[in-house]
Amino acid sequence: MSGQIPQRFIDDLLARVDVVEVVGERVKLKKAGRNHAGLCPFHQEKSPSFTVSADKQFYHCFGCGAHGNALRFLMEYENLRFPEAVEQLAARLGMEVPREGADDPRAQARERKHKEGVNLLELSASYYRERLKMPEAEAARQYLAERGLSPEVQQAFAIGYAPAGWEALKRHLSERGITEAVQIEYGLLVHREDSGRTYDRFRDRVMFPIRDIRGRTIAFGGRVLGDAKPKYLNSPETPVFHKGRELYGLFEARQANPRLERLVIVEGYMDVVALAQFGIRNAVATLGTSTSEEHLGRLFRMVGEVVFCFDGDRAGRQAAARALQTVLPQMIDGRQARFMFLPEGEDPDTLVRREGPEAFEDRITCASPLSEFLFDHAAEGRDLAAIEARERFASQVLSAIGKLPEGVLKSLLLTELSRRTGVDQSRFEALVTPREEPQASPPLAADSGGDEASRPLPERRGGTTGGALSLMGRVLQLLVHEPRLVERLPEESDWYPGEEPDAWLCHEVERLLRAGRYRSAQVLLAHFHGTAEGERLAELARRELLIPPRARAAELDGLIEHFRRHLLRPSHQEEVDALLSKQQRGERLSQEERQRLMGLLTELKG
Ligand code: UTP
Ligand code: MN
Repeated sequence: MSGQIPQRFIDDLLARVDVVEVVGERVKLKKAGRNHAGLCPFHQEKSPSFTVSADKQFYHCFGCGAHGNALRFLMEYENLRFPEAVEQLAARLGMEVPREGADDPRAQARERKHKEGVNLLELSASYYRERLKMPEAEAARQYLAERGLSPEVQQAFAIGYAPAGWEALKRHLSERGITEAVQIEYGLLVHREDSGRTYDRFRDRVMFPIRDIRGRTIAFGGRVLGDAKPKYLNSPETPVFHKGRELYGLFEARQANPRLERLVIVEGYMDVVALAQFGIRNAVATLGTSTSEEHLGRLFRMVGEVVFCFDGDRAGRQAAARALQTVLPQMIDGRQARFMFLPEGEDPDTLVRREGPEAFEDRITCASPLSEFLFDHAAEGRDLAAIEARERFASQVLSAIGKLPEGVLKSLLLTELSRRTGVDQSRFEALVTPREEPQASPPLAADSGGDEASRPLPERRGGTTGGALSLMGRVLQLLVHEPRLVERLPEESDWYPGEEPDAWLCHEVERLLRAGRYRSAQVLLAHFHGTAEGERLAELARRELLIPPRARAAELDGLIEHFRRHLLRPSHQEEVDALLSKQQRGERLSQEERQRLMGLLTELKG
């Protein structure tokens, strides 16, 4: 790896570059009021819902939720990694990207090794592909033909063959000047401690290169031709390969359709390839691990809908239950997750061959929505006519609902739970979200003396996000907009309310800011980039901060003072009133606001 890019450089870069210009070079923008607007490059649309703000140096799409700063835009639009996006922005300004410790020989050696690593993976991939054409690969070719893989799909997935023998690849790479140490580090060569011997990790196997989103080979999976064990061998963790993060087939899916809207998660290499051969080119597979939060985070940044595909057996149901737990916290409004179960004894590979692609597509279309699977799963093996069983059913569903972010889905599920159990919805709500005390009112800033400007203002939603901000959310928002305010937080962190959803994140942000590593919101966002926390912070950064600069410190003090006294949340009733009065004033409610209002009204009725 090359040296770290210093934070202050990134700060500097973002301060000099104009997001409107960066986006404008790639997307046709028109000035619309204070902002610029255009057709969103991240989803298909006919009327523009993509806006770029010069003031905030952010872009945001009201349609698909894509958003971020100039760096994020380049990363998403050009498929760049963070440092590459920094390099590209710096280049246009004629700035050289400094690297921490770049002069140090150890860093240089690391850099060299990184380049060597990337290079050797590509070399190996093309070596394997070449070998598949050789006479020695007759059995492998026959195997692939028997499994029904067309030459086209073999090519699209760059499938190859690792020859038998112990040193074929090692010799090939060593002749090209690649040291054994690097071959070992990148998982191609195995080093036996006892004998000191080294040999090829992959021998006599059909090889599936695993490629990153830009198409660079980062690892391999290899399948035996027969029934030997292990059936699949994967590259170990290396400097460029992390199993819990990568998905097989993602590059190929994006190649086939850059405007993907839905991805199907299957289990195996062969499933992805077989589906692709039959024209279903949006399947990806985890690499022998269960689906991680990181996987889902990546997928949801690309598409709005993820369909999990499981075997119909017990193991499949269990895997689905795990996936459900992982996906719940990520279900912000606008995202969809669905679950499909295959008949026992089938996997997507066998099924698509037997039934054909249309039938398989129909299965995808009919996959259960998350809500349905959640209720089915909780009801499984329970006789809901019995009170105790109903209680356990309700508590399982409630614990799942508790993991959901605030939004439409959460309120719909509560309504449905109430319908299914016949228990008043308000009772459930009290269990999921601590209810506000009736006399609760927003805190006054400590030294405000009634000054209008320094009172916490009711959040005016710019239509960019759902839900009013909780008080903890306001603290976090203040920190995001004005990192220097961290100095005002008490040294002791005992004022953080434990069960507030934003509290943990806020604490983490406090820690980072105190450590002095971040001075601007953008860099803070970059730190969390690609995680659910990053999404949350970005959302807060996008919300307009309505408190005038001079009143912000007092506002923060007031909030903390409030938390110290007792915990409460802005009441739903207040939010409903605010939305209704907005409507009565004749202002148009955004789609999100309307949904929120509907959700709130159903909740309050319950
Ligand atoms: P399966 O055993 O379901 O294999 O493993 P499959 O995909 O149906 O393979 P075929 O059809 O027999 O060729 C599913 C996935 O689990 C991982 C691989 O990623 C595989 O694709 N796996 C399986 C391993 O990593 N190692 C193994 O030994 C077996
Ligand atoms: Mn299979």
